Amino acid sequence: MCHPRIHLLLACFALLVSPASVIAAPAIVDTCAECHGADGMGRGLAMVPVIAGIPAAHIEQAIYAYVDGARRCAREPRMCETVAALSEIEVAEVAEYFAAQVRGSSHEEFDKVLAAEGEVLHKQHCSNCHLPPDHESVADAIGYPLHGQRSEYLRYAIEAYFAGDREALLEAMADQIRQLKAGDLGALVNYYSSYRSAD
Ligand code: HEC
Ligand code: HEC
Repeated sequence: MCHPRIHLLLACFALLVSPASVIAAPAIVDTCAECHGADGMGRGLAMVPVIAGIPAAHIEQAIYAYVDGARRCAREPRMCETVAALSEIEVAEVAEYFAAQVRGSSHEEFDKVLAAEGEVLHKQHCSNCHLPPDHESVADAIGYPLHGQRSEYLRYAIEAYFAGDREALLEAMADQIRQLKAGDLGALVNYYSSYRSAD
């Protein structure tokens, strides 16, 4: 089973084949930059996800998930208000802009024992779709990188899918989330937080 919105994602994959060129920042990026930083790395705000280097098709899909309510902005309503006001062209422009930014790691703290448990869970349930940012096939992956994401945001996002507060757009992912136990969530977050990019 595939959510209707996923067609957008698959249709857009063709665009990802061309290498990222230098992209002039559209004016609307100034608004996003207040929280996400002009480089998409998040300015150190715990609840603001890193969006640098997420393939453009995924950024667009995430924005439309906020616009139509599949994702809610429980902690920061201004995020949802900002993207709801964008035209389709602006959505495409900001997606292309942030996709072209270099993705570093956010240097989160983590617990080694939990991270090792999380790695096993990741390989079992999530690694088919979510690759680390420096993986050679990351641009073709079905999901986008969770490794190096801000841990507080990631904890909130995984818990939201687990609790049914956020809709997984792919049934195949929802299926894997359903197989987790509550205690697994923290292990996964610690594993993704243990990632360090080469920067
Ligand atoms: C007031 C702060 C704020 C502003 C302004 C803002 N964002 Fe966000 N953004 C957030 C927060 C917080 C989240 C997490 C929301 C949630 O899921 O509850 C988020 C989530 C996202 C995500 C999802 C990332 C992921 O990992 O799935 C994308 C993409 C995004 N924002 C893009 C944008 C763009 C593009 C703009 C400008 C047009 C923008 N944001 C403006 C705070 C902000
Ligand atoms: C079949 C492919 C697939 C599998 C398996 C999968 N995911 Fe996903 N995941 C996706 C896609 C596609 C998205 C983006 C669309 C959405 O929001 O549902 C996503 C989004 C996410 C996000 C949101 C990221 C963000 O920055 O907001 C999190 C968190 C996540 N997945 C965690 C997991 C975890 C944990 C597992 C394993 C238990 C998993 N996923 C398994 C495809 C998958």
